[in-house]
Amino acid sequence: ENMAIKSRFDDVAKLVDTEQGFISREIFVDPDLYKEELDKVFTRAWLFIGHEGLIPNPGDFYTTRMGEESVILCRDKKGIIHAFLNSCRHRGMKVCRYEQGNTSIFTCPYHSWTYTTDGKLQGVPQYRSLYDGQLDRDANSLVAVAKLAIYKGTVWATWDKNAPDFLTYLGEAKVHLDQALDCRDGREGGSEVIGVHKWIFPSNWKFAAENFLGDTYHNPSHRSVDLIGIGPSAASGKKGRRDDELEKAQHVWISFPEGHGVHSAIQPENNEYIESFLDNPVLEKYFRYCYEERKRRLGEQARLMPFVGTIFPNTSYHGRQPRGLCAWHPHSPTTTEGWRFFLVDADAPQEVKDYLRHYYMRYSGPAGMTEQDDMENWLYATSASLGTVARRYPFNYQQSLGAWTREHQSLGGTVSVQITEEIARGYYRRWKSYMGGGGWDELLGGNDGLAQRAAE
Ligand code: FES
Repeated sequence: ENMAIKSRFDDVAKLVDTEQGFISREIFVDPDLYKEELDKVFTRAWLFIGHEGLIPNPGDFYTTRMGEESVILCRDKKGIIHAFLNSCRHRGMKVCRYEQGNTSIFTCPYHSWTYTTDGKLQGVPQYRSLYDGQLDRDANSLVAVAKLAIYKGTVWATWDKNAPDFLTYLGEAKVHLDQALDCRDGREGGSEVIGVHKWIFPSNWKFAAENFLGDTYHNPSHRSVDLIGIGPSAASGKKGRRDDELEKAQHVWISFPEGHGVHSAIQPENNEYIESFLDNPVLEKYFRYCYEERKRRLGEQARLMPFVGTIFPNTSYHGRQPRGLCAWHPHSPTTTEGWRFFLVDADAPQEVKDYLRHYYMRYSGPAGMTEQDDMENWLYATSASLGTVARRYPFNYQQSLGAWTREHQSLGGTVSVQITEEIARGYYRRWKSYMGGGGWDELLGGNDGLAQRAAE
């Protein structure tokens, strides 16, 4: 069916048919839809903007992004964390042009208005002579995000003052995200960022977000990585103990009503799985300790072993090694900036941190083996969808329609025990709600998930 439409905004529903499983390519390439997306999705959803470990001291700042816009994440002199639009209230100049650092004041380079680290306008040159000492400083403070949340070290923000609190937004996806944020021994939080990779690639941002929802179907793309044995247990390219354990695990794909998704697995009981760095005694000792502690602290939940997930709209995560978060920042319909925040246990031995740092660089990020594979797909899928003829034909999302189960409902969301594009359909169902300007009841999924289970 030719799904090209004349008016982009007439009916987004025509472009995204999640029930039949067809989604127009327009939502991945069209400039007008992209602008609409920045307005309706990125100014309302909770977005991941950084980690408090990047700004440990009063006066520390880290410039981040929300949608296309630059945002200053900073810690004021009292130690409180804030996030402000990085744009002067006078003529809009960036008040902070550095990626990170420490300051007591942000001085705008254009006409030298100055702002304190809690966002207040402090200094205005010639305040008395040119403004009669009347300029309302409070009304000209830096624009602060409407809500900010710090969750296990990660920092999230939204521009929507009516947005629900962050944990409500996260919903039942929380337990899965926790696997990425908690220590490997099962303690809450305690992770530190050992590096941030940033790079720009010519693809629509949703290709990356969707890939991490649980698109295990694309694994043939990583065949070469498997063959050369880039994984921690497969140094020779042979199947390792880790692979055997993964095969024994019960894999699950979960769609959450808020648009989030995850591919996780439940290990068999009494599994002797450790992180399988068996060629190094320090690593083996550390991860064996982590495994035993996880079992002791978490009980059944310690069996949960998530691979990848996405928190709607543009934050993805790895729950295992390489552990961390990725933000997919839009630059244009066909350009995305990827930021990968790599995490390790803050109290792990240095040798463990060093090993993981090297492993992360080898595996993920712009030069990592798997991310290069993925980017080939995202880049060519984007460019091959730009053509006049190509844009007439929608993408197919019909895989495993209705393939969900009553099993494992304690994991939350709508669960499937086979690979399914239901997670992507759920994600775009929510995307459509945002684009339609839906209220927060609808954006949180209403009773979507329950309705699906009831239909079963
Ligand atoms: Fe910042 Fe003028 S633009 S002081």
